[in-house]
Amino acid sequence: MTEQTTKIHSSLKTIEWKDNKVIMIDQTKLPNALVFVEFTDYNQVAEAIRTLVVRGAPAIGVSGAFGLALAALQSTAPTKDELLSDLEKARKILFDTRPTAVNLKWGLEKIMEAAKKGAEVSQIKELVVNTAKKMADEDIQINMTMGKYGSELFDNNDTIMTHCNAGALATVAYGTALGVIRATKDGGKNIKVIATETRPVQQGSRLTAFELKHDGIDVSLIPDTAVGYVMAQGLVNKVIVGADRILRTGHVFNKIGTYQVATMAKRHGIPFYVAAPLSTFDMDSNPEDVVIEQRKASEVTGIGDKKTAPDDIKVINPAFDMTLPELISGIITEKGIVKPPYEESIKKLFEANK
Ligand code: MRU
Repeated sequence: MTEQTTKIHSSLKTIEWKDNKVIMIDQTKLPNALVFVEFTDYNQVAEAIRTLVVRGAPAIGVSGAFGLALAALQSTAPTKDELLSDLEKARKILFDTRPTAVNLKWGLEKIMEAAKKGAEVSQIKELVVNTAKKMADEDIQINMTMGKYGSELFDNNDTIMTHCNAGALATVAYGTALGVIRATKDGGKNIKVIATETRPVQQGSRLTAFELKHDGIDVSLIPDTAVGYVMAQGLVNKVIVGADRILRTGHVFNKIGTYQVATMAKRHGIPFYVAAPLSTFDMDSNPEDVVIEQRKASEVTGIGDKKTAPDDIKVINPAFDMTLPELISGIITEKGIVKPPYEESIKKLFEANK
């Protein structure tokens, strides 16, 4: 590890495998308390994904993989077939936790493929645990590579807007969109960040503002409703966000509100970038196939424990939206940057990295 990595994005890992346990930062407690939780049962990992103890597409992918590693260790199956059937049961429970981030499916499938390669029970367990640990290590390297590529798009004295949290806390460490911001700063450029609050769960104020401030990056927090204002005032040079799923057409699914930010950026001629690893691409689905997670009404009818809406109000609370390819200036991956037209550039990217 280099000197630069001795900050929150490496000294604290969002998720880690230690002594046959999964250890996570409980993100629901941030920024008020830094609490670590330990799991030995894959059902606990599933619940942690469901309740946003761990969140962010790459972190969910690795959590799914670690969940299956726990399931392998928990299983008392005496034969390969019975162990694979236990793993399949766990895979389904973990998969059903959150529907939109494709990294979860990717992480679970990678582990199932590894498991099937084992000849007998003890070898399968070892393979599964080692594959999950490798995925976690690779996530950090991928983010750092993505950071280097992405930093070339940003200039000295840029003010960069970001939405939600695509940071160290959304990955194993370093982050995707915030990884690019970190690499830009570490490359010697003077930059500032504007973070949206990201209602209703406030990943922007609770997580992005927390981790950037912790790393000494100049960050200002705005309410989501001030996006148009700060852009119209000329206070933003570029936007960068992460993604939960990117289609082969360049349609990007990300935290609710991303579409509004991208539309507003287009209106003001501000470049809008997305940073995501190849594991976030879904080359098979069409826009109408993607399930947008709908979350509980209480996230909207209150802030924290405080009720801010009348009883029995009807609520619409989608967790993600879809940003159209024509609003996106470039997509940064660990294998390079793709630009429009996306059908062509994404196809080339995948062909070159089979
Ligand atoms: O509901 P969340 O907090 O899991 O949503 C997270 C996002 O939308 C992130 O922007 C996305 O997962 C990219 S994380 C690198």
